[in-house]
Amino acid sequence: MKVVVLHGSHRVGGNSDALAERVLAGLGGVADLDVVHFRPIDMKIAHCRGCGRCRTGGGCVIDDDMRTVYPAFCDADVVILAAPMFWGYMTSQLKTLFDRLEAIVSPRCFGGKQFVLLVTYRHYYGSMVEWMERISTGFGSRCRAIVCRTYDSASERDLEIEELPEMLQAAHDLGATLALGS
Ligand SMILES: Cc1cc2nc3c(=O)[nH]c(=O)nc-3n(C[C@H](O)[C@H](O)[C@H](O)COP(=O)(O)O)c2cc1C
Repeated sequence: MKVVVLHGSHRVGGNSDALAERVLAGLGGVADLDVVHFRPIDMKIAHCRGCGRCRTGGGCVIDDDMRTVYPAFCDADVVILAAPMFWGYMTSQLKTLFDRLEAIVSPRCFGGKQFVLLVTYRHYYGSMVEWMERISTGFGSRCRAIVCRTYDSASERDLEIEELPEMLQAAHDLGATLALGS
């Protein structure tokens, strides 16, 4: 099973990363995995210029680290998005990566996949879930989402994911469910 993990956070080992690791653990307990991780904050990824040259069939004109993302994304059976909410949407580094996927938007690259959306947030997650569900169903792929509130409104403090063992367990279970094809 080919898996691509897109790490939207700048916090290595942070909340969304920890959820992604648990999904992988659940998947790996059942299936043989070929996993590629991309952390766009550490990559050289320019903004899409909207030039439209990719629509003429030659791929993206920008030569940068997206070169490695395109084939891995296209070939993946499972794409995991570890996506903390920043100002109401995904982080800018993850958005920049997705903008550049415009160059490979097609049923071949976006269809027949299992998308796993892991949203960590304080107050709001709706935009991410709506976006991912629309893309998945539009291309005949499937999306499973875990939304994880990492804020305790009673004490008004951010939580670390270790304080939410039930969410870590849910991520593990989701991985195992995916691997079993159900
Ligand atoms: C700059 C910044 C902006 C944020 N904006 C939002 C937001 O708009 N909505 C929300 O619910 N949480 C917001 N958060 C909270 C994070 O999504 C939350 O702390 C998340 O658990 C971080 O995940 P990570 O550890 O994987 O980076 C923001 C956090 C930061 C640092």
